[in-house]
Amino acid sequence: MHYRVQKCLTLLTRSYSKSQSLIKMSLNEAKKIAAFKAVDQWVKPNTAIGVGSGSTVVFAVERLSQRVKNEGLHVVCIPTSFQARQLIVENGLELGDLDRNPHLDCAIDGADEVDANMVLIKGGGGCMLQEKIVASCAENLIIIADYTKNSKKLGEQYKKGIPIEVTPMAYVPIKKRIENTFGGSLNLRMAVSKAGPCITDNSNFVLDWQFDEKKDYDWDSVNKELLQIPGVVETGLFVNMAKKVYFGMKDGSVKEQK
Ligand code: A5P
Repeated sequence: MHYRVQKCLTLLTRSYSKSQSLIKMSLNEAKKIAAFKAVDQWVKPNTAIGVGSGSTVVFAVERLSQRVKNEGLHVVCIPTSFQARQLIVENGLELGDLDRNPHLDCAIDGADEVDANMVLIKGGGGCMLQEKIVASCAENLIIIADYTKNSKKLGEQYKKGIPIEVTPMAYVPIKKRIENTFGGSLNLRMAVSKAGPCITDNSNFVLDWQFDEKKDYDWDSVNKELLQIPGVVETGLFVNMAKKVYFGMKDGSVKEQK
């Protein structure tokens, strides 16, 4: 009896860890197929492009460097973060900046969530300020994501809230003001493996706004109001910016939304 129970438990544990690794693999595969398709469809020779941040963009850079090697493609890459800059340099791509390339053909970036109206939450990695600047210089903002980012409403799947980059000295008044005006609550994002707050690439703090999911927010006007608050540097709300989103799906297909 004891032996049978033990055997049963071993089998259950094995099948659980097998299914866990399948989920992980398919999520990465989903990111990869979305990234590869977007790079193939949007990156044209002799252009300057924005390179976003996050784990999905790693696959876009992989595809870009393949195309540079295989096709002799010439592109100048403008980073949206320290991570993006590292990716560009380590993959031997040509690094540029907005001083020399103020007009970009496209920017390829990830997102934390995309709603039915193409409103994005970005900034899960704290890079939304440079991401929004670079996106605003691009003719086309192209988003690449896996199926877990594909929502009808913001907050449906992404539970960490909307990131808001703020000047450190103002984080308490900003937190109170947003809570009183719009509801929900804001948390100062804390660093991992370092005591204290997370510091962005621009030396600011991030407040993650857990908005009230029962409310029906007009994200365009909320975003505009947030940006009026002194000390708010940028928000992770990207409204009317994305041209097209590529979602890598569980079944291996790529869903396109525009
Ligand atoms: C970085 O601050 C974010 O805006 C990223 O673009 C976003 O978090 C997507 O990251 P993943 O591709 O890792 O999901």
